[in-house]
Amino acid sequence: MKSFFYSILCSLFLFACSGEKKDQSAEPQKEPASVAKVAKEESHKYEPLPEGVFPQGNPWSQDKEDLGKLLYFDPRLSGDNSISCATCHHPDKGWGDGLPRAIGFGGKELGRHSPTVINSAYYEVQFWDGRAPSLEEQAKGPIQAAGEMNQNVEELVQELGAIPEYKDRFAKVFGDSGITLDNIAAAIATFERTVISKNSAYDKYMQGDKSAMSASAVNGMNLFFGKAKCSICHNGPAFTDSGFHNLGVKQQGPLAEDPGRFNVSKDPADKGAFKTPGLRGVSLSAPYMHDGSEATLKDVIDFYNRGGDVAENRSAFITPLELSDQEVLDLVEFLKALEGEPIKASMPALPGMTDASKK
Ligand code: HEC
Ligand code: HEC
Repeated sequence: MKSFFYSILCSLFLFACSGEKKDQSAEPQKEPASVAKVAKEESHKYEPLPEGVFPQGNPWSQDKEDLGKLLYFDPRLSGDNSISCATCHHPDKGWGDGLPRAIGFGGKELGRHSPTVINSAYYEVQFWDGRAPSLEEQAKGPIQAAGEMNQNVEELVQELGAIPEYKDRFAKVFGDSGITLDNIAAAIATFERTVISKNSAYDKYMQGDKSAMSASAVNGMNLFFGKAKCSICHNGPAFTDSGFHNLGVKQQGPLAEDPGRFNVSKDPADKGAFKTPGLRGVSLSAPYMHDGSEATLKDVIDFYNRGGDVAENRSAFITPLELSDQEVLDLVEFLKALEGEPIKASMPALPGMTDASKK
């Protein structure tokens, strides 16, 4: 039997990103001198998270958000009714699963770490390799992927259609088109766009409350935008350039190697490059990296401090940082200060389930 991860790749490859916007060739691969220059010129302009993450083609409504939330938590979206989106992206686990790599259909370990859904609304493309152009396209992937939820779409539409409450809710939100895969994905994406981490200690500090961050976190912030040059890639309101970089991560887990962005772009320069994750709320969703290879935030900073692990095809921006032990801790404190207000979401009572488990 094929590895489950491989089946995900195969089935999801259909959704391969058509609107490739990122041109990573702009990144100098062999000019470390330019690194210091970029770091020095980086001015720290505060950018709060913008509102209005709902696209024109899929506008928000309360009914749509509520429906999306039900679907997100509903294990009947999977082939054997056992796995929901929340199984791998659970609110109590920072909207990830707390595991190095996801466990898919049949209990098999997949090749990649389940990223958090927090602030995924702000990415230009979805997945570690950016192969899905939107949250709508992304959501259709795991439902059908053999290694994840292993569901047949026709069966799913029938199954949901047999539940009067779902029928009514779809009709109310989508009118005559009713229950379709596109509408399921549109509702789930709408719910995901409400999973936003904002109003962190960092926001309060930058908006004038100088008591909101500790001295250590302030020092970490200055390192982040200066000496440690993190903001070369983690920039903008959500702390991501939505770009792809090879950091020199030593691959762990069932995959011997993971070509990352190369799978989508076929550009050799993208081998081992992965999407820059946003960092708001990052302290909630350990472990880290596309393969879950770093257990804690301190481990991540130690990794950057030694300039990564694997030299092949590594970004020229990843070089040893010579941070002191205290500076490493300061950076961790700053990352913790990016944690926003709690994002409330409890398991809803699911339609047509009399014994809906409540948490
Ligand atoms: C078996 C575990 C599992 C299930 C079930 C699952 N996911 Fe995921 N999810 C993952 C993994 C692993 C990835 C990363 C895969 C990759 O990048 O190739 C991912 C990626 C994502 C992303 C991209 C985030 C980013 O930072 O790029 C989103 C959004 C997402 N999943 C939402 C969902 C939704 C919605 C559902 C339900 C329809 C779902 N997931 C079901 C494991 C899972
Ligand atoms: C060259 C671009 C680049 C630079 C510079 C950079 N990062 Fe990253 N960061 C990334 C990418 C890409 C990933 C994901 C890599 C992977 O999984 O293989 C990542 C992953 C992370 C993660 C893990 C997030 C998660 O959800 O798994 C954290 C935390 C992080 N970076 C913080 C930092 C800090 C702090 C600095 C400065 C010391 C920094 N980064 C510098 C691009 C960069």
